[in-house]
Amino acid sequence: MSQGNKRIGIIGYGYIGKYVYEQLTSRPELGLEVAFVYNRSPEKTAALPPRLILDQLGHFADRGADLVVELAHPRVTQEYGAALLAVTDYMPLSMTALADAALEQELLATARRHDTCLYIPHGAVIGTDALEEGRQIWEEVRITMKKPPHTFDFSAAPQFRAEEIRSETLLYEGPTRGICPLFPRNVNSHAAVALAGIGFDRTHSVLVADPALEVSVIEIEMRGQGVEVKVQRRNPMKGVSGVFTLVSSLASICRAKGRHSGLQFC
Ligand SMILES: NC(=O)c1ccc[n+]([C@@H]2O[C@H](COP(=O)([O-])OP(=O)(O)OC[C@H]3O[C@@H](n4cnc5c(N)ncnc54)[C@H](O)[C@@H]3O)[C@@H](O)[C@H]2O)c1
Repeated sequence: MSQGNKRIGIIGYGYIGKYVYEQLTSRPELGLEVAFVYNRSPEKTAALPPRLILDQLGHFADRGADLVVELAHPRVTQEYGAALLAVTDYMPLSMTALADAALEQELLATARRHDTCLYIPHGAVIGTDALEEGRQIWEEVRITMKKPPHTFDFSAAPQFRAEEIRSETLLYEGPTRGICPLFPRNVNSHAAVALAGIGFDRTHSVLVADPALEVSVIEIEMRGQGVEVKVQRRNPMKGVSGVFTLVSSLASICRAKGRHSGLQFC
């Protein structure tokens, strides 16, 4: 353990978790080190140094993490979010879990009670600063996401089948609160927009599957009091996650806990 380094607990050792682990363990200049890695299927972490593997998530408190990052599944926040926040800071990447209003309130109350922090990574969303700063101004916030059908996880929306979608198809249009349980692994960016801005009930979500696309396209629009902001991001996909997700996730962890000197945006 290096003195002064912040310790990061990693839950989920898949596409993003593996990248975060490799970066933290190979770049001492970040000022971060791995407190533990936990993955539900233990064979995925079998090659890691045994001292870093956590066998049971319920034992996380023994590892002295300054921040625990979830890169696994919304279920982790449902089952362990409050227990984690009672002990340490917590950053869920699968923040569709927070569309459950009771869970969101429980997590925020726990964080206030224990003086810990619930970090929301911006992920695919460009403009969380504007969404947050303009909360009093925005009358309308809208996020439209278009992706190829094979990049969706349809397990909670079995009425759709990727192989049957042959042209541009609207999967959902309505409040962000309603889209999160239907596509929990695909619409974390919708949850981030809602959390940063005017909430899950007032934010409008549109989700489209388009076989002609090879990238995911996200458009975010904010309007109010004559102010208009519109941003678009196009991102190549790998599984349910975009390629830019890797660098964005690491940057959020570094912004929360990394060593800072020199130029710093805030
Ligand atoms: N916030 C964002 O912008 C954003 C962007 C992309 C992905 N995500 C979310 O981040 C998560 C990880 O994405 P990924 O592309 O790395 O996925 P992945 O499928 O490649 O990896 C997930 C890993 O977590 C493990 N896992 C699943 N359920 C678990 C549980 N309950 N406890 C412990 N481990 C568990 C799996 O075995 C797997 O190794 C997903 O839920 C995804 O929806 C968020």
